[in-house]
Amino acid sequence: MTDNAEISRVGVVGCGVMGAGLAEISAKAGLDVLVAVTSTTSEQAGRKRIERSLANAVAKGKLGEDERDSLLERITFTTDIGDFADRQLVVEAVTEHEPTKLKIFSQLDAVLEDDEAILATNTSSLSIMRIARATERPGQVIGTHFFNPVPVLPLVEVVGSLLTEQSAHDRLAAFLTDVLGKEVVRAPDRSGFVVNALLVPFLMAAMRMVESGFAAAADIDRGMTLGCAHPMGPLRLADLIGLDTLHAVATEMYEEHKEPLHAPPPLLARMVDGGLLGKKSGRGFYDYR
Ligand code: CAA
Repeated sequence: MTDNAEISRVGVVGCGVMGAGLAEISAKAGLDVLVAVTSTTSEQAGRKRIERSLANAVAKGKLGEDERDSLLERITFTTDIGDFADRQLVVEAVTEHEPTKLKIFSQLDAVLEDDEAILATNTSSLSIMRIARATERPGQVIGTHFFNPVPVLPLVEVVGSLLTEQSAHDRLAAFLTDVLGKEVVRAPDRSGFVVNALLVPFLMAAMRMVESGFAAAADIDRGMTLGCAHPMGPLRLADLIGLDTLHAVATEMYEEHKEPLHAPPPLLARMVDGGLLGKKSGRGFYDYR
Protein backbone atom coordinates (compact mmCIF):
# COMPACT_ATOMS: atom_id res chain seq x y z
CA MET A 1 0.00 0.00 0.00
CA THR A 2 1.71 3.20 -1.10
CA ASP A 3 -1.11 5.63 -1.79
CA ASN A 4 -4.12 6.76 0.25
CA ALA A 5 -6.38 6.15 -2.69
CA GLU A 6 -5.51 2.48 -2.24
CA ILE A 7 -7.23 2.32 1.14
CA SER A 8 -10.52 0.89 0.01
CA ARG A 9 -11.23 -1.76 2.67
CA VAL A 10 -11.91 -0.28 6.07
CA GLY A 11 -12.76 -2.03 9.32
CA VAL A 12 -14.60 -0.39 12.20
CA VAL A 13 -14.64 -2.09 15.59
CA GLY A 14 -17.78 -1.22 17.52
CA CYS A 15 -21.01 0.32 16.30
CA GLY A 16 -21.99 2.61 19.16
CA VAL A 17 -22.35 6.36 18.81
CA MET A 18 -18.88 6.82 17.30
CA GLY A 19 -18.49 3.53 15.41
CA ALA A 20 -21.79 4.04 13.60
CA GLY A 21 -20.67 7.51 12.52
CA LEU A 22 -17.32 6.14 11.32
CA ALA A 23 -19.03 3.40 9.32
CA GLU A 24 -21.39 5.94 7.79
CA ILE A 25 -18.72 8.40 6.62
CA SER A 26 -16.45 5.63 5.32
CA ALA A 27 -19.28 4.11 3.27
CA LYS A 28 -20.27 7.57 2.10
CA ALA A 29 -16.72 7.96 0.75
CA GLY A 30 -17.31 4.82 -1.36
CA LEU A 31 -15.25 2.47 0.79
CA ASP A 32 -16.05 -1.14 1.61
CA VAL A 33 -16.79 -1.12 5.35
CA LEU A 34 -16.78 -4.11 7.66
CA VAL A 35 -18.04 -3.45 11.19
CA ALA A 36 -17.19 -5.75 14.10
CA VAL A 37 -19.87 -6.07 16.75
CA THR A 38 -20.22 -8.37 19.74
CA SER A 39 -23.72 -9.70 19.06
CA THR A 40 -26.66 -9.56 16.68
CA THR A 41 -28.35 -7.26 19.17
CA SER A 42 -25.52 -4.73 18.90
CA GLU A 43 -25.60 -5.15 15.12
CA GLN A 44 -29.30 -4.23 15.08
CA ALA A 45 -28.73 -1.24 17.36
CA GLY A 46 -25.77 -0.11 15.23
CA ARG A 47 -27.72 -0.46 11.99
CA LYS A 48 -30.54 1.60 13.50
CA ARG A 49 -28.10 4.34 14.51
CA ILE A 50 -26.72 4.55 10.97
CA GLU A 51 -30.19 4.50 9.42
CA ARG A 52 -31.43 7.26 11.75
CA SER A 53 -28.49 9.47 10.89
CA LEU A 54 -28.95 8.82 7.16
CA ALA A 55 -32.68 9.56 7.43
CA ASN A 56 -31.72 12.91 8.93
CA ALA A 57 -29.27 13.56 6.08
CA VAL A 58 -31.96 12.66 3.50
CA ALA A 59 -34.57 14.82 5.23
CA LYS A 60 -32.14 17.77 5.18
CA GLY A 61 -31.40 17.26 1.49
CA LYS A 62 -27.79 16.24 2.16
CA LEU A 63 -28.18 12.76 0.67
CA GLY A 64 -30.34 11.22 -2.05
CA GLU A 65 -32.39 8.09 -1.34
CA ASP A 66 -30.44 6.09 -3.97
CA GLU A 67 -27.16 7.24 -2.46
CA ARG A 68 -28.42 6.19 0.99
CA ASP A 69 -29.30 2.71 -0.28
CA SER A 70 -25.96 2.12 -1.99
CA LEU A 71 -24.14 3.50 1.06
CA LEU A 72 -25.91 0.98 3.29
CA GLU A 73 -24.98 -1.84 0.90
CA ARG A 74 -21.30 -1.03 1.42
CA ILE A 75 -21.57 -1.72 5.17
CA THR A 76 -21.44 -5.29 6.40
CA PHE A 77 -21.28 -6.63 9.94
CA THR A 78 -19.41 -9.47 11.57
CA THR A 79 -19.05 -10.84 15.07
CA ASP A 80 -15.67 -12.39 14.17
CA ILE A 81 -12.67 -10.09 14.14
CA GLY A 82 -10.91 -12.82 12.15
CA ASP A 83 -12.88 -11.50 9.16
CA PHE A 84 -10.72 -8.36 9.26
CA ALA A 85 -7.72 -10.13 7.62
CA ASP A 86 -7.92 -8.11 4.37
CA ARG A 87 -8.58 -4.69 5.95
CA GLN A 88 -6.12 -1.90 5.08
CA LEU A 89 -7.29 0.46 7.80
CA VAL A 90 -9.09 -0.42 11.01
CA VAL A 91 -10.55 2.17 13.36
CA GLU A 92 -11.45 0.89 16.80
CA ALA A 93 -14.32 2.72 18.51
CA VAL A 94 -15.34 0.63 21.51
CA THR A 95 -15.94 1.83 25.06
CA GLU A 96 -13.21 3.84 26.74
CA HIS A 97 -11.91 0.82 28.67
CA GLU A 98 -8.22 0.10 28.29
CA PRO A 99 -8.18 -3.70 28.78
CA THR A 100 -10.87 -4.09 26.10
CA LYS A 101 -8.95 -1.93 23.67
CA LEU A 102 -5.67 -3.76 24.35
CA LYS A 103 -7.31 -7.10 23.65
CA ILE A 104 -8.78 -5.84 20.38
CA PHE A 105 -5.45 -4.45 19.20
CA SER A 106 -3.69 -7.67 20.01
CA GLN A 107 -6.34 -9.59 18.03
CA LEU A 108 -6.11 -7.17 15.09
CA ASP A 109 -2.34 -7.52 15.07
CA ALA A 110 -2.66 -11.28 14.76
CA VAL A 111 -5.27 -11.10 12.01
CA LEU A 112 -4.29 -8.26 9.64
CA GLU A 113 -2.36 -9.61 6.64
CA ASP A 114 -1.10 -6.31 5.22
CA ASP A 115 2.09 -5.25 7.05
CA GLU A 116 1.28 -1.64 6.21
CA ALA A 117 -2.30 -1.77 7.46
CA ILE A 118 -2.99 1.11 9.81
CA LEU A 119 -4.49 0.35 13.22
CA ALA A 120 -6.27 3.43 14.53
CA THR A 121 -8.03 4.00 17.83
CA ASN A 122 -10.75 6.55 18.47
CA THR A 123 -9.82 6.81 22.14
CA SER A 124 -10.39 10.24 23.73
CA SER A 125 -8.03 9.87 26.62
CA LEU A 126 -6.02 6.64 26.69
CA SER A 127 -2.33 6.43 25.86
CA ILE A 128 -1.67 5.64 22.21
CA MET A 129 1.68 4.22 23.29
CA ARG A 130 0.11 1.66 25.64
CA ILE A 131 -2.35 0.62 22.92
CA ALA A 132 0.46 0.40 20.35
CA ARG A 133 2.47 -1.85 22.66
CA ALA A 134 -0.35 -4.40 22.62
CA THR A 135 0.76 -5.12 19.04
CA GLU A 136 3.97 -6.22 17.34
CA ARG A 137 3.64 -3.29 14.94
CA PRO A 138 3.57 -0.11 17.08
CA GLY A 139 4.78 1.92 14.09
CA GLN A 140 1.39 1.42 12.42
CA VAL A 141 -0.73 2.29 15.47
CA ILE A 142 -2.16 5.78 15.74
CA GLY A 143 -4.96 7.76 17.41
CA THR A 144 -7.77 9.20 15.30
CA HIS A 145 -10.06 11.13 17.58
CA PHE A 146 -13.31 11.97 15.78
CA PHE A 147 -16.04 14.22 17.18
CA ASN A 148 -19.68 13.49 17.78
CA PRO A 149 -21.73 13.60 15.57
CA VAL A 150 -19.06 12.14 13.28
CA PRO A 151 -20.90 12.78 9.97
CA VAL A 152 -21.36 16.45 10.86
CA LEU A 153 -18.25 17.67 12.70
CA PRO A 154 -15.19 18.12 10.50
CA LEU A 155 -12.38 17.63 13.03
CA VAL A 156 -10.15 14.62 13.63
CA GLU A 157 -7.26 14.82 16.09
CA VAL A 158 -4.44 12.64 14.80
CA VAL A 159 -2.24 11.37 17.59
CA GLY A 160 1.00 9.56 16.97
CA SER A 161 2.91 7.83 19.76
CA LEU A 162 6.70 8.08 20.06
CA LEU A 163 6.81 4.84 18.05
CA THR A 164 4.37 5.74 15.26
CA GLU A 165 6.12 5.84 11.89
CA GLN A 166 5.95 9.22 10.16
CA SER A 167 4.87 7.50 6.94
CA ALA A 168 1.84 5.93 8.69
CA HIS A 169 0.99 9.29 10.24
CA ASP A 170 1.20 11.13 6.91
CA ARG A 171 -0.67 8.44 4.99
CA LEU A 172 -3.50 8.44 7.50
CA ALA A 173 -3.73 12.26 7.69
CA ALA A 174 -3.93 12.43 3.89
CA PHE A 175 -6.62 9.72 3.87
CA LEU A 176 -8.70 11.60 6.45
CA THR A 177 -8.59 14.83 4.47
CA ASP A 178 -8.60 13.60 0.86
CA VAL A 179 -10.92 10.61 1.17
CA LEU A 180 -13.11 11.29 4.21
CA GLY A 181 -13.10 15.08 3.76
CA LYS A 182 -12.14 15.79 7.37
CA GLU A 183 -9.89 18.50 8.83
CA VAL A 184 -6.93 17.25 10.82
CA VAL A 185 -5.02 18.66 13.76
CA ARG A 186 -1.99 16.96 15.23
CA ALA A 187 -2.33 16.35 18.93
CA PRO A 188 0.12 15.03 21.54
CA ASP A 189 -0.09 11.55 23.06
CA ARG A 190 -1.28 13.00 26.38
CA SER A 191 -4.60 12.15 27.96
CA GLY A 192 -7.30 14.45 26.52
CA PHE A 193 -5.20 15.46 23.50
CA VAL A 194 -5.97 19.08 22.58
CA VAL A 195 -9.75 19.42 22.47
CA ASN A 196 -10.70 17.46 25.57
CA ALA A 197 -7.92 19.16 27.55
CA LEU A 198 -10.02 22.31 27.10
CA LEU A 199 -13.53 20.84 26.85
CA VAL A 200 -13.57 18.40 29.79
CA PRO A 201 -12.79 21.00 32.53
CA PHE A 202 -15.61 23.13 31.09
CA LEU A 203 -18.12 20.26 31.13
CA MET A 204 -17.07 19.17 34.63
CA ALA A 205 -17.45 22.77 35.86
CA ALA A 206 -21.00 22.90 34.49
CA MET A 207 -21.84 19.64 36.31
CA ARG A 208 -20.40 21.01 39.55
CA MET A 209 -22.68 24.03 39.17
CA VAL A 210 -25.69 21.71 38.97
CA GLU A 211 -24.41 19.53 41.80
CA SER A 212 -23.91 22.45 44.18
CA GLY A 213 -27.20 24.11 43.29
CA PHE A 214 -25.34 27.11 41.86
CA ALA A 215 -27.55 27.09 38.76
CA ALA A 216 -30.06 24.87 36.96
CA ALA A 217 -29.00 22.82 33.93
CA ALA A 218 -31.37 24.64 31.59
CA ASP A 219 -30.08 28.05 32.72
CA ILE A 220 -26.44 27.03 32.33
CA ASP A 221 -27.14 25.76 28.82
CA ARG A 222 -29.18 28.80 27.84
CA GLY A 223 -26.38 30.97 29.17
CA MET A 224 -23.76 29.35 26.94
CA THR A 225 -25.91 29.03 23.81
CA LEU A 226 -27.44 32.52 23.94
CA GLY A 227 -24.53 34.30 25.58
CA CYS A 228 -21.54 32.65 23.92
CA ALA A 229 -23.08 31.25 20.71
CA HIS A 230 -22.14 27.65 21.51
CA PRO A 231 -24.26 25.32 19.34
CA MET A 232 -25.42 23.53 22.48
CA GLY A 233 -24.89 24.09 26.20
CA PRO A 234 -22.41 21.99 28.23
CA LEU A 235 -24.99 19.73 29.88
CA ARG A 236 -26.83 18.93 26.68
CA LEU A 237 -23.45 18.32 25.06
CA ALA A 238 -22.47 16.00 27.93
CA ASP A 239 -25.70 14.07 27.30
CA LEU A 240 -24.84 13.85 23.59
CA ILE A 241 -21.31 12.58 24.22
CA GLY A 242 -22.59 10.01 26.74
CA LEU A 243 -22.09 10.39 30.49
CA ASP A 244 -20.33 7.02 30.80
CA THR A 245 -17.85 8.03 28.11
CA LEU A 246 -17.30 11.41 29.73
CA HIS A 247 -16.83 9.86 33.15
CA ALA A 248 -14.22 7.47 31.74
CA VAL A 249 -12.44 10.26 29.86
CA ALA A 250 -12.38 12.64 32.83
CA THR A 251 -11.18 9.88 35.17
CA GLU A 252 -8.35 8.98 32.80
CA MET A 253 -7.36 12.62 32.35
CA TYR A 254 -7.35 13.17 36.11
CA GLU A 255 -5.27 10.02 36.55
CA GLU A 256 -2.64 11.27 34.12
CA HIS A 257 -2.47 15.00 34.90
CA LYS A 258 -3.70 15.14 38.54
CA GLU A 259 -5.54 18.32 37.61
CA PRO A 260 -8.54 18.82 39.96
CA LEU A 261 -10.52 20.52 37.20
CA HIS A 262 -10.51 17.21 35.28
CA ALA A 263 -11.91 15.19 38.20
CA PRO A 264 -15.45 13.91 37.56
CA PRO A 265 -17.88 15.20 40.21
CA PRO A 266 -19.74 12.59 42.31
CA LEU A 267 -23.01 13.55 40.58
CA LEU A 268 -21.60 12.30 37.26
CA ALA A 269 -20.48 9.03 38.86
CA ARG A 270 -23.91 8.48 40.43
CA MET A 271 -25.71 9.18 37.16
CA VAL A 272 -23.52 6.62 35.39
CA ASP A 273 -24.10 4.10 38.23
CA GLY A 274 -27.82 4.67 37.74
CA GLY A 275 -27.74 4.07 33.99
CA LEU A 276 -28.50 7.73 33.28
CA LEU A 277 -26.07 7.94 30.36
CA GLY A 278 -27.54 10.84 28.42
CA LYS A 279 -29.23 10.83 25.04
CA LYS A 280 -28.32 7.24 24.19
CA SER A 281 -30.05 5.82 27.27
CA GLY A 282 -32.99 8.24 27.11
CA ARG A 283 -32.11 10.15 30.27
CA GLY A 284 -29.21 12.23 31.53
CA PHE A 285 -29.28 15.89 32.51
CA TYR A 286 -32.36 16.00 30.26
CA ASP A 287 -35.12 13.52 29.51
CA TYR A 288 -35.25 12.21 25.91
CA ARG A 289 -38.00 9.65 26.38
N1 CAA B 1 -24.66 13.44 7.12
C1 CAA B 1 -24.38 14.68 6.67
N2 CAA B 1 -24.88 15.81 7.22
C2 CAA B 1 -25.74 15.66 8.24
C3 CAA B 1 -26.10 14.40 8.76
C4 CAA B 1 -25.51 13.25 8.15
N3 CAA B 1 -25.78 12.03 8.57
N4 CAA B 1 -26.97 14.58 9.77
C5 CAA B 1 -27.14 15.90 9.90
N5 CAA B 1 -26.40 16.55 8.97
C6 CAA B 1 -26.26 18.00 8.81
C7 CAA B 1 -27.60 18.68 8.70
O1 CAA B 1 -28.04 18.67 7.38
C8 CAA B 1 -27.27 20.08 9.18
O2 CAA B 1 -26.63 20.79 8.14
P1 CAA B 1 -27.04 22.32 7.81
O3 CAA B 1 -26.67 23.09 9.05
O4 CAA B 1 -26.22 22.65 6.62
O5 CAA B 1 -28.51 22.27 7.58
C9 CAA B 1 -26.21 19.85 10.25
O6 CAA B 1 -25.66 18.57 9.98
C10 CAA B 1 -26.76 19.88 11.67
O7 CAA B 1 -27.68 18.81 11.84
P2 CAA B 1 -29.10 18.90 12.50
O8 CAA B 1 -29.91 19.97 11.85
O9 CAA B 1 -29.66 17.54 12.51
O10 CAA B 1 -28.82 19.28 13.99
P3 CAA B 1 -28.64 20.69 14.70
O11 CAA B 1 -28.60 21.83 13.77
O12 CAA B 1 -29.65 20.66 15.79
O13 CAA B 1 -27.16 20.52 15.30
C11 CAA B 1 -25.38 19.40 16.39
C12 CAA B 1 -26.86 19.45 16.13
C13 CAA B 1 -24.62 19.15 15.09
C14 CAA B 1 -25.14 18.26 17.35
C15 CAA B 1 -24.92 20.79 16.97
O14 CAA B 1 -25.75 21.13 18.04
C16 CAA B 1 -23.49 20.77 17.44
O15 CAA B 1 -22.56 20.91 16.65
N6 CAA B 1 -23.30 20.61 18.77
C17 CAA B 1 -21.98 20.55 19.37
C18 CAA B 1 -21.43 19.17 19.24
C19 CAA B 1 -20.05 19.04 19.81
O16 CAA B 1 -19.49 19.94 20.41
N7 CAA B 1 -19.48 17.85 19.65
C20 CAA B 1 -18.18 17.54 20.15
C21 CAA B 1 -18.35 16.66 21.31
S1 CAA B 1 -16.78 16.19 21.99
C22 CAA B 1 -16.47 14.71 21.29
O17 CAA B 1 -17.19 14.19 20.51
C23 CAA B 1 -15.21 14.08 21.64
C24 CAA B 1 -14.97 13.54 22.96
O18 CAA B 1 -13.98 12.89 23.09
C25 CAA B 1 -15.80 13.77 24.13
